Formats: sequence, C-alpha cells, structure tokens
Amino acid sequence: MSTIKVHDKYFKPYINAADVEKEIIRIAACLNNDYAGRKPLFIAILNGSFMFASDIFKHLTIDAEICFIKLASYKGTKSSGQVITAIGLDMDLFGRDVVVIEDIIDTGKTLTTFSQQLKHQQPHSLKVCALLHKPEATEYPITIDYLGFTVPNKFLLGYGLDYDGLGRNLPEIYQLVEE
Ligand code: IMP
Ligand code: MG
Repeated sequence: MSTIKVHDKYFKPYINAADVEKEIIRIAACLNNDYAGRKPLFIAILNGSFMFASDIFKHLTIDAEICFIKLASYKGTKSSGQVITAIGLDMDLFGRDVVVIEDIIDTGKTLTTFSQQLKHQQPHSLKVCALLHKPEATEYPITIDYLGFTVPNKFLLGYGLDYDGLGRNLPEIYQLVEE
C-alpha cells in the first residue's frame, strides 16, 4: 500500500484490509451471540455502508434480514430544521430487533435524526453498528453498540467511503494527507 491520488488530493494508507476484516469477524461474532434466536432486521444506510454491511452480513450465522436505505435531506418549508426522509424503508419495524449499519459516524446528526424516526415505529430494540467513529467531531449524544475503529477527526477514504464520488472500491482505508 502506498500514497494514492484521488481527484486533487493525496491519501495515505491508514487501516489495511486484514485489520478491517478482523474487526468485521469480531463484530459479527458479537451479533451472532447477542441476536441468537431473534431474527434481527439490519438497516444499512447507503451509499457509504454498502461494503461494510455486506461483509458483516456474510459472517452472520443467525437468521437475519437486511434492507438498504438512502437518506435524503432537505430544508422543511415551515421550520428551519432539516428533514431527513428514508427512501426504501418498506419494512414494518413494529416489535422488531433493529440494527442500523453506518460506515462512519462524524457529527452524529444523520444517525440521531434517523434513529428518532425509527423509534416512532416502535421496534422492540434499536442498536447501532458502525465501522468508524470520530468522537472529536461528534456533536450529538449517541450510543454506538457495535464499533470497529475510533479514529481522529481526519477525512477518510476507501472501503465504501468516498471523496467526491471516488474511492469507494478501495479494499482498505486511507487518510487524507493534509498540506
Ligand atoms: P454525520 O451525520 O456528520 O455523522 O455524517 C455521517 C456521514 O458523513 C457518513 O455516513 C459519511 O457518508 C459521511 N462522512 C463522514 N466522515 C467522512 C469521511 O471521513 N470520509 C467520507 N465520508 C464521511
Ligand atoms: Mg454514510
């Protein structure tokens, strides 16, 4: 692995593919244990989490369902608050054990807003599984129940994460080289 250029910026290797895989296996083992006999529903937030979600799912040995959703945010007409709509959420969550899968939690805004919406549907339980967390950037009180890596507040690329559309295909995670 060496430094790569994507668009106008340079990125250096940060977490190699083998270390990512080790975490996936560890997290999947926890999920297999915690959700044994419960048929959880995983909700993966696109686009960033597609690779993480698929790798986690491959290592599940329990009965589980998954759906992929996209969050669209817009400014509400009546309030100044941002409204987030989940596109593709066609499952009934009432009484279900739900696990939200996120690639990275930065400010925590996406997750906080989305979790509040999910709670309206009265799931039996609601947990969060994220590959990466930037605690220095997090402004909302959130609990991450299953976490891969705690990382500094620097821009990351690869393994689903993009910089302006590119880099999602990289099997390892890179960090922005700051000039
Ligand atoms: P939040 O609402 O600020 O927590 O934003 C989370 C979303 O921002 C993630 O799901 C990513 O799509 C994106 N994001 C945050 N940090 C990074 C990063 O370092 N690289 C790529 N995307 C990021
Ligand atoms: Mg995301």
